[in-house]
Amino acid sequence: MAQTWSKSDWRAKPRIQMPDYTDEAALNVVEAQLAKYPPLVFAGEARKLKASLAAVSRGEAFLLQGGDCAESFAEFSADTIRDTFKVMLQMAMVLTYGAKVPVVKVGRMAGQFAKPRSAPTEVKDGLELPSYRGDIINELDFTPEARMPNPSKMLQAYTQAAASLNLLRAFSKGGYADIHQVHAWTLGFTEGERAEQYRDMANRIQDSLDFMTAAGLTAKNNAELASVDFYTSHEALLLEYEEALCRVDTTTGMPLAGSGHMIWIGDRTRQPDGAHVEFARGVQNPIGLKCGPTTTPDDLKVLMSKLNPTNEAGRLTLIARFGAGNVGEHLPRLIKTVQQEGANVVWTCDPMHGNTIKSSTGYKTRPFESVLREVREFFAIHKSEGTVPGGVHFEMTGKDVTECTGGVRAVTDEDLSDRYHTACDPRLNASQSLELAFLVAEELSGRAEAKRAVL
Ligand code: PEP
Ligand code: CO
Repeated sequence: MAQTWSKSDWRAKPRIQMPDYTDEAALNVVEAQLAKYPPLVFAGEARKLKASLAAVSRGEAFLLQGGDCAESFAEFSADTIRDTFKVMLQMAMVLTYGAKVPVVKVGRMAGQFAKPRSAPTEVKDGLELPSYRGDIINELDFTPEARMPNPSKMLQAYTQAAASLNLLRAFSKGGYADIHQVHAWTLGFTEGERAEQYRDMANRIQDSLDFMTAAGLTAKNNAELASVDFYTSHEALLLEYEEALCRVDTTTGMPLAGSGHMIWIGDRTRQPDGAHVEFARGVQNPIGLKCGPTTTPDDLKVLMSKLNPTNEAGRLTLIARFGAGNVGEHLPRLIKTVQQEGANVVWTCDPMHGNTIKSSTGYKTRPFESVLREVREFFAIHKSEGTVPGGVHFEMTGKDVTECTGGVRAVTDEDLSDRYHTACDPRLNASQSLELAFLVAEELSGRAEAKRAVL
């Protein structure tokens, strides 16, 4: 790790996509307060996640990362957290069962509050105001007061993240995630081919569990069956917040981003000499790096050596987000760069951010077909390059929203207005998420290929 690095060095670097706080004194008070609060995660957990991601990089496990585009203060509730957690457990179960590899579960949760925007301002009816940048910065309402960046929102975000993480830890370790609950997780899925497929799988898992219990392997003597490891992640965009929660881990003497287990750098803020890369390079957490169509091999080379100078396995996850139809043009050259450098990375696919379109009814949406197509292209290219497709990264929710079109329950452009609740990008709903998990499991187990060969 960088020998000469301090958590505030990013301040001397060019910064973009961050708010200009006008009240410096108020900002200082908030930063001082956050700096005194406990970190949200423990360094040992981040190291454990890194070890699991190292297994992903070798093809011995699969990464499932998912959650809101932007968490919101208004939508904050136990039910929202439980529903997303539940769908991720269901997806992990499908992937584990179908692909026969352990699934590393990482939520875009408990800290995913700050958003990069394509335009700094928004104009409505001739009025121009700063863009909404996530609940940790300003508010969605289109008024000058609401859009003013307010540093005290960082304290509310911290509180919400702490409460979310507390509940996630309780669900993970307190019995909810016990594999014997596999049938209870199916509640709420009452219709559709996939629901039936899921129940059928749950029955088969139940059969295996009954056999294991008879053989003396129970949740009581086997913690693996009774609980799960569930990690949190977010884009480390608001660096004042990240710096204030940065702590030195007493075990290793190394800095840790205490805001979440894994942090990532967005596609818009990955400048090799920029503030965001500067911050991320010094903390020991697993780091994600979004790679989009404008990522050049030269940039990637520099970024890999800055972010992972010791080539530690599990440290760096490259999140490919090119858009359906574009993966073939971009991914192979970046895979080549990784190979030339002999770099250890996890390759994962974000099929959301390259597939956002405006629907005929005016809503920002993502067609399920494009999402699926990008995932398939990602798998096909890794297969032909002989490299490991390590995981998937989704914007999703456990709620029955209508934000992405398509899927077996066929959300149409006209349906989008029914339950369009996202504060930012459109998310897959629970049934679209589960359907995608089945399709990814088929890709992973090679069954999709066999099926296509028959057709
Ligand atoms: C995101 O993950 O919400 C995001 C903004 O992604 P990207 O940086 O890839 O555009
Ligand atoms: Co998004």
